[in-house]
Amino acid sequence: MWLTWRAAMEHALYGESGFYLRERPSSHFRTSVGASPVFAEAVLRELAAINEALGGPEVLDLVDIGAGEGGLAAGVLAAAPPALRSRLRVTAVDLAPRPPALPEEIVWARAAPDGIHGLVIANEWLDNIPVDIAEQTADGPRLVLVNVTDGEERLGGRPSEADLAWLDRWWPMRAPGERAEIGRPRDRAWASVIVRLARGRAIAIDYTHALEDRPPYGTLAGYRDGALVAPVPDGSCDITAHVALDACAASGESAGAVTTALTTQREALRALGVTGSRPAVEQAGNDPRGYLQALARASEEAELIAAGGLGGFGWLCQSRP
Ligand SMILES: C[S@@+](CC[C@H](N)C(=O)[O-])C[C@H]1O[C@@H](n2cnc3c(N)ncnc32)[C@H](O)[C@@H]1O
Repeated sequence: MWLTWRAAMEHALYGESGFYLRERPSSHFRTSVGASPVFAEAVLRELAAINEALGGPEVLDLVDIGAGEGGLAAGVLAAAPPALRSRLRVTAVDLAPRPPALPEEIVWARAAPDGIHGLVIANEWLDNIPVDIAEQTADGPRLVLVNVTDGEERLGGRPSEADLAWLDRWWPMRAPGERAEIGRPRDRAWASVIVRLARGRAIAIDYTHALEDRPPYGTLAGYRDGALVAPVPDGSCDITAHVALDACAASGESAGAVTTALTTQREALRALGVTGSRPAVEQAGNDPRGYLQALARASEEAELIAAGGLGGFGWLCQSRP
């Protein structure tokens, strides 16, 4: 069966017995959430700052979109001090069924709630929103079709006028053979988050590229059992493509975001106190156990902020005061 990439990804990842409805993401790839509890602690610090900025509302929302196995929501809840925890309303949003071991206080939903007061966080969600792929030809862009059983590709028709306008604005292709991932569904998905944010901040964290630096042949990739594999949309592997977070930012602004900051995970986590600093060697003599714990934590922090790894992820932060 030949489909556009967007339809093929939709079916492979979220169709009946699709990859994400069947599999545990952590069996196939490692995200910041799984890398270390330090990540949830940093998100808690962000949440505490928003709580203050909002004047300590009676109910403070934490909404984790694309929650996967719910590890981030559970980690923030577990680390929250009692005075904050008692006012927290935690919602984990995913198309997958509720994981069995999730704490009862966490609401599991297929869509984000309306009227959010607090923090929305979406770690590696947008890269799994299906996108179409266009290829430049001598006659202009054409959609790429894919055979869902073996991943073979061929060219289809012209993209829609709306997609052509998006390509023109956000991912202009120059030479025949160049390819672009049409991020319009991700822009819409992000806008739908911003309209649900009454007051507070929404943060999308993902592999990203910027307008001045788009990869000429795209970023489509597959992951299975921890390894990079050919992106065959047969439901046997994750299929992902980096996110044009600058386009999502513009879409968020149109949807009502009042402030926008686009930075790297390295910078964002450093601002939240994650520095990767090693303990002083003198501690090894006075407190060997504490020293080893601090050393282990420093190496987890270093992984989260490594410039060539997780630290290179983009953080799109938008808020409505
Ligand atoms: C790469 S996983 C990230 C999991 C988790 N946030 C983490 O960092 O470990 C992406 C998740 O997004 C979910 N997802 C994709 N599209 C979604 C949608 N439209 N609504 C809710 N969840 C979605 C998938 O089911 C999957 O669990």
